[in-house]
Amino acid sequence: MIYSEKVMDHFQNPRNVGTIKDADGIGKVGNPVCGDVMAFYIKVKDNRLADVKFQTFGCGAAIAVSSMVSEMAMGNTIEEALKITNKSVAKELGGLPKNKLHCSNLGADALHKAIEDYKERKKSAKEDITKKSGESDKFNCPYCEGPLEGLEDFCKKCQIELEKCPECGKPIKKDEEKCPHCGATKVRA
Ligand code: FES
Repeated sequence: MIYSEKVMDHFQNPRNVGTIKDADGIGKVGNPVCGDVMAFYIKVKDNRLADVKFQTFGCGAAIAVSSMVSEMAMGNTIEEALKITNKSVAKELGGLPKNKLHCSNLGADALHKAIEDYKERKKSAKEDITKKSGESDKFNCPYCEGPLEGLEDFCKKCQIELEKCPECGKPIKKDEEKCPHCGATKVRA
């Protein structure tokens, strides 16, 4: 079996081996043919892959493939990195022996999975923020802490009239001198 010089170089001196502790995305794939596993870790800054690391438990060809993928993807935008294919990696390596082509199938797949993971995490973080800001819009009665259910000027449970504190905007008793939320006094000028 003859490997290209590039394959041998990346196999013997793999670039970007390791993990990223606070990775923005992680992608793992296993090779069903041989059972080998490849994992990619990415760090994203301003829509670019600021860091790419990998761990490969596999053959020499798989190690060379991961190393090449990490080099090709480093600094790419998300869109550019998604255009890297298993074929383009094998080509960039100067080709792989036919019976080792299956090894290259892991590379781009693992990277794309890490990007998918990053996108998923970003999406759920966004949903969290929307949910939280939605919740903070709903005020509770500052005295019984029960929900005001849309009636911001009256608490059914305490049977008291409420008004908004001009300082913090939260509901307080109508004739209250001191806001229980922000501590503003003489709110009734
Ligand atoms: Fe398993 Fe190459 S033999 S990845």
